[in-house]
Amino acid sequence: MSLFARKSIAALQKEAASTGEGTLKRSLSATNLVMIGIGGIIGAGIFVLTGHAAASHAGPAVVLSFVISAITCALAGLCYSEMAAAVPVAGSAYTYSYATLGELMAWIIGWDLVLEYGVGAVTVAVGWAGYLKGFLEGFGIRIAEAYSSAPFDWVTDKVTHVDHFVSTGAVINLPAMLVVAIVTALLVVGIEASAKVNAAFVVLKVTIVVLFIALGLGHVLHSNWITAGNPQGLFIPPHLGEGQFGWDGIIRASGVVFFAYIGFDAVSTAAQESKNPQRDMPIGMLGSLAICTVLYILVAYVLTGVVPYDQLNVAQPIAKGIDAMGLPWLAPFIKFGAILGLSSVILVLMLGQTRVFFSMSKDGLLPVSFGKVHPKFRTPARITLVTGMSIMVAAGLAPIGLVGELCSIGTLFAFALVCLGVMALRVIDPGLHRPFRTPFIWVVGPAGAAASFYLMLALPKDTWIRLIVWMAIGLLIYFAYGQRNAARVRAEAESAK
Ligand code: ALA
Repeated sequence: MSLFARKSIAALQKEAASTGEGTLKRSLSATNLVMIGIGGIIGAGIFVLTGHAAASHAGPAVVLSFVISAITCALAGLCYSEMAAAVPVAGSAYTYSYATLGELMAWIIGWDLVLEYGVGAVTVAVGWAGYLKGFLEGFGIRIAEAYSSAPFDWVTDKVTHVDHFVSTGAVINLPAMLVVAIVTALLVVGIEASAKVNAAFVVLKVTIVVLFIALGLGHVLHSNWITAGNPQGLFIPPHLGEGQFGWDGIIRASGVVFFAYIGFDAVSTAAQESKNPQRDMPIGMLGSLAICTVLYILVAYVLTGVVPYDQLNVAQPIAKGIDAMGLPWLAPFIKFGAILGLSSVILVLMLGQTRVFFSMSKDGLLPVSFGKVHPKFRTPARITLVTGMSIMVAAGLAPIGLVGELCSIGTLFAFALVCLGVMALRVIDPGLHRPFRTPFIWVVGPAGAAASFYLMLALPKDTWIRLIVWMAIGLLIYFAYGQRNAARVRAEAESAK
């Protein structure tokens, strides 16, 4: 049955080894890959969500939430690394599942990854527009509200508790569309240019984060942990209600700040453009994750140590932290760094999305014509343009409340499936050459899948409903189009042999 058709690992490895015209250009070093990982990771999560997670859910113990999320990512990252090193082709989790769990599961993962990469890019582009607006307003330049926000918002009716759209009176979010257009152009032109721009932005944003930590550590006062709900100033504030403080709140905050880690796995989508993927894929993913984990824990500690956490529910908590340190001159630099930092997140997430779609087109699950490589740029230019335009339209119209948590739940779902997939492949093909082996796979694999699922449970019910609706749409497309087209592409490939 084609639902369970699997790709042969040997064929994938052969595809990974092919070079020359019609293939993607192999130019990325280990350092480039670590930079891509950091480029995708540090963004709206740390610059915006940390404040909300501390104020509403965990207090100073948001530090622990970052640790819990990092452990979940590390478990999944170890599994991703085995797959990406053994089968170093574009498309990441999607391709691995094609080789292990069969076509239907591959489609499910590929479709789910749109939530991580595509919807993630939309979310960060909307956040980018917000930061740009704030930054320009600091110089007295105002962008009209009508052209810098979504025409609809997604709200919950206070009486009936039913979610619905309401008109905001705005027309379109032009800045969000603009950043997506620029990133699309860069991705079409070349992977090397994209990696260079990303590296420059990464250096800037890491400098800013390190500066925040270095200048802030001396200002941390544990008396700032004392608030109305936490008169004793405990590190873990007393539980106040569902998801509010205590252990329950820490877990809820882990679900929120998980967004801050999304992106390290995008490294794996660039496996086919890496010079030495067997060695460098694990370095790129686990290295970037480790660096960002240390930075995040320190930022969370400093932020909740310089501002009482109940005052952190603001759009720009880091800027608030800087004010509290008495360093207002630093604020514009931080904002500027955040804008560039968010740009590189959009770049990396869109890179991931185009590579997943590229692989899906080559397999016929999406139109084959999309999967052509540009003869000069050696990038998947057509699918990049189609993806870029779709993300651009969505960024112009989507309210941020609708998309943020959807991205997290989609990513966690992919993590769980990759952890299961790597174990399946150990059973299906024990003799496969694995340049990187996940240590203690029978512990790490189940723990990674369970931790991802546990964090999914920490996300609200309406996010689950959106995930289910999205997956149902995906299944309709698969049965109406993908399955038949993929079977046709496979038959053609067989007869050409
Ligand atoms: N990790 C990325 C961010 O926080 C998605 O913006």
